[in-house]
Amino acid sequence: MFIYKFIAVTLLLCAYTGIHLYAAFGRVIGSRIAFAILFTLFAESYVIVQFFRRSLEIDLPAFFYWFSSAVIGFMSILVMVIVIFDIALIIMLICKRASIIANSRLKIGVLAILATFVIFIYGHINSVTPRVTSYSIEINKQIPDNIRIVAVSDLHIASYTSLNALHKMVERINALSPDIVVMVGDIIDGELQPFIDRDIKGIFSKIESRYGVYSVLGNHEYHGGQVDSVKTAFDDAKIPLLRDEAIYIEPLNLTLVGRDDYRALRYRGSRAPLSKLIGGATDSAIVVLDHQPQNVILEEASASGADLQLSGHTHNGQLFPFNFVVDRIYKNAWGLMTEGAYNLIVSCGFGTWGPSMRTGSYSEIVVVDING
Ligand SMILES: [Fe+2]
Repeated sequence: MFIYKFIAVTLLLCAYTGIHLYAAFGRVIGSRIAFAILFTLFAESYVIVQFFRRSLEIDLPAFFYWFSSAVIGFMSILVMVIVIFDIALIIMLICKRASIIANSRLKIGVLAILATFVIFIYGHINSVTPRVTSYSIEINKQIPDNIRIVAVSDLHIASYTSLNALHKMVERINALSPDIVVMVGDIIDGELQPFIDRDIKGIFSKIESRYGVYSVLGNHEYHGGQVDSVKTAFDDAKIPLLRDEAIYIEPLNLTLVGRDDYRALRYRGSRAPLSKLIGGATDSAIVVLDHQPQNVILEEASASGADLQLSGHTHNGQLFPFNFVVDRIYKNAWGLMTEGAYNLIVSCGFGTWGPSMRTGSYSEIVVVDING
């Protein structure tokens, strides 16, 4: 199970970083056992908070969720910083200059912590400073000049999500004067309650779009286990959730197809074939919303005659060096890929999973201008 793997990996990284930190700050800290206990509690705070929530069903204040998520980000940077210092140490050992490091452990420790904080703050600022990525595509269909779609994905709305950031997102979307606005999955982080309690519906009601706002599920909506309630809440919030459903927007001669998330295969055993959803609408512009840009999905979408697929999910790695990892997993982990008449645009997402931090990508709003 994911949680056990997560605990095993984080304990290993906790031991690796803890040993180094104690080597640097041991004289200042004193008790090795007390440090080991406190540092393990710090490093495993995400697991502890989730244990309170899921196993004990005790809902802690939002600060604990924010803090425990921030620790994941902080630790991921600290590990990399220490690895870099270890590489430097090996080089010094080879050059027979290791005594310099042995005599400067405290200074090196302070430098490592400072470097971690600087990267952490940069990552946080980067994650809350959205950029607009613009694309222009040509399709072989009779459509009005310049249909503009604005897409956001992976908002991961949780109890600690900044409402100010969501208000600003709506302002940015409206300034782009969209024909259609789409939200391409992972809109909530799992649980629906923060979406209701924090009146996200009120914020989304301010979105101005000539032909409506639409949404699809992501894997995180499935993680929450309340998919039917999510549909009711999103429909009620005027961001109708398309679950294996196509709608025809006549003035634009555009068919918008919202697919159930790839994760539905695990929960429901199947999802509707794209060709069935598109049906006989092949003379219209076909825009598919599908949260995960799995390689097998691209083949299906390309073969079914879709003109454009909008996806998210990858976050383009979110934290360095995971951007390189997702780049190897997905044929197109971020940006535009065109193959024949089929265009795929993958957004690296507006929000963040876990820490409010991005060091491998940035927060993004996508705007696509389509011409026939
Ligand atoms: Fe996702």
